[in-house]
Amino acid sequence: MDIEVLGRALTTLPAQDDHPYRTGPWRPQQVERSAENLEVIGEIPADLDGVYLRNTENPVHPAVEIYHPFDGDGMVHAVGFRDGKAFYRNRFIRTDGFVAEQDAGRALWAGLAEDPSRSPTRTGWGARGRMKDASSTDVVLHNGVALTSFYQCGDLYRLSPTTLETLGKATWNGKFPSDIGVSAHPKFDERTGELLFFNYGTEAPYMHYGVVDRADNLVTYIDVPLPGPRLPHDMAFTENYAILNDLPLYWAPQALAQGKYAARFHPDTPARLAVIPRHGTTADIRWFEADPTYVLHWTNAYEEGDEIVLEGFHQSDPVPPSGGGTLYQRMFRFLDNNQLGGRLHRWRLDLTTGLCKEEQLSTLPSEFGMINQRYAGRKHRYSYAATSPAGWFLFDGMVKHDSLTGGLERFEFGDGVFGSETAMAPRTGSTAEDDGYLVTITSDMNRDLSECLIFDARDITAGPVARIRLPERVSSGTHSTWAPGSLIAGWDEQDDPAATVGL
Ligand SMILES: [Fe+2]
Repeated sequence: MDIEVLGRALTTLPAQDDHPYRTGPWRPQQVERSAENLEVIGEIPADLDGVYLRNTENPVHPAVEIYHPFDGDGMVHAVGFRDGKAFYRNRFIRTDGFVAEQDAGRALWAGLAEDPSRSPTRTGWGARGRMKDASSTDVVLHNGVALTSFYQCGDLYRLSPTTLETLGKATWNGKFPSDIGVSAHPKFDERTGELLFFNYGTEAPYMHYGVVDRADNLVTYIDVPLPGPRLPHDMAFTENYAILNDLPLYWAPQALAQGKYAARFHPDTPARLAVIPRHGTTADIRWFEADPTYVLHWTNAYEEGDEIVLEGFHQSDPVPPSGGGTLYQRMFRFLDNNQLGGRLHRWRLDLTTGLCKEEQLSTLPSEFGMINQRYAGRKHRYSYAATSPAGWFLFDGMVKHDSLTGGLERFEFGDGVFGSETAMAPRTGSTAEDDGYLVTITSDMNRDLSECLIFDARDITAGPVARIRLPERVSSGTHSTWAPGSLIAGWDEQDDPAATVGL
């Protein structure tokens, strides 16, 4: 393996850290590396062409008071593939907040578990305000470059999908809604080249929805009025519609009036799902009521006759009982999908009757579901989700759900080995939905190393077809994406894909 050190962040974290989400599989990294001629066990498929991109929350400074794993600075990992060879990079996202805190040598903003009034900096980002936009939640491809985003709304940072150089912020030709920002989970529609997005905040109308076209023009941006501030995390789309949500887990209004941001579940309030024509207006929004729940992530949506079919992870217990324990155990029960009871679920929104029917698709708790992105907005059959060990925000295995038959296949990484959100990479020239590969990065606590694993998506139980050793054990994190080489700017013009800047 040929390794080059690209950079190193200034860190002030304690040498003997005891925070559960800054140690073990969540141990953050400070060094940025490029690696080629990687050691491979098995064979990298020659028809795997593109880059697996994974965002992580990677802190470099202690929090003001209490660190929450969603506070960490965005660090993106890339494993790129062409002609049966792989390369690797990891880089911090040069957000305004990261740069300012590198200069200051300490945390300048209060995190999610902290009182914003204690934030050392009065300005900031996020629906709550006075937060650092770490851009550490999600990563998607749009117009040939990677866009990273933040769950509480912020800028979209543009990164080269191959070198991971931060290219600046999305401006959308001067129309980017900088006053509110954009939430994590904007959706890229490969079919039209559009990016669909939403944002939310504490001021009416509380949510907006928009569309950016393949020339980076903001072509739709509308109010989505809600009864009050909400905490949406994800959206979905079909060929003709966008689906947003107003779910009964939100900041308690009375506490909010006193500047306290405490999320409460309102079990007697229906979940509401908004169906909006893709380029529609506020007057076109139709709301559907469903079983009270919180949904962190949707897998997909599509149209079938007069119905919008929506699939995602219904939580049976969005606010699990605290059950005592340490401060960390109480805080982080919200990160354990087993306690939240997130299970694959289907909602059918009937555009004729205005009614919603729903059904559980799997009894197995799972979350972070991915599909073949070529099927986004169209009827899909397969999704690939993560299972979690009790008590932790970690992924101990993958599950392939078949939404047609209700069947599932599982693969467990093994004791002490944790994967990342697994992206589906269609094989070059593929014609079937699951004709491709699943790509994930492990954090192996037994051997203190990370590997990139490649599975045949048609048979995940057979185990990986290739294991690629990475230069350092990678910290756990949240979201990933598959960037097909055919959609990366400049990819085909370079003999060496690792040198593609993606401008
Ligand atoms: Fe997310």
